[in-house]
Amino acid sequence: MRVKVSRQAHFNAAHRLYRADWSFEKNQEIFGLCNNPNYHGHNYELIVSVTGEIDPITGYVMDMKVLKDLIKSEVENAFDHKNLNLEVPEFKEMNPTAENIAVVIYHKLRPHIEADKDIEVVLYETPRNFVTYSGN
Ligand code: NI
Repeated sequence: MRVKVSRQAHFNAAHRLYRADWSFEKNQEIFGLCNNPNYHGHNYELIVSVTGEIDPITGYVMDMKVLKDLIKSEVENAFDHKNLNLEVPEFKEMNPTAENIAVVIYHKLRPHIEADKDIEVVLYETPRNFVTYSGN
């Protein structure tokens, strides 16, 4: 019996989407407002889900306190109130799009959660735009 458990979290961060090897005009054409050289912020909503067997002893798939602390130490501490381009090493060379942020979050969490459990990362960049990554 595999059950999916989910924990919601939140962080605020600034970013700019652009390619250094493109002209400002080309960046403006592709990334629009997100190419603002002075950066801009988002209120990111994060949902991390873990799917696995229910432990017959505890009745848990995963202790949610452990998941909460993991999200805090691996994601919130690294991203919250940061400029993603300038302060998060993973985005030195990679555009901090919602897609790439979700993949980075997945890989930060994956080593800390037992391999027989599946992880899904859902990241809302705005209340209407969200991406999902589950390791494929
Ligand atoms: Ni943006």
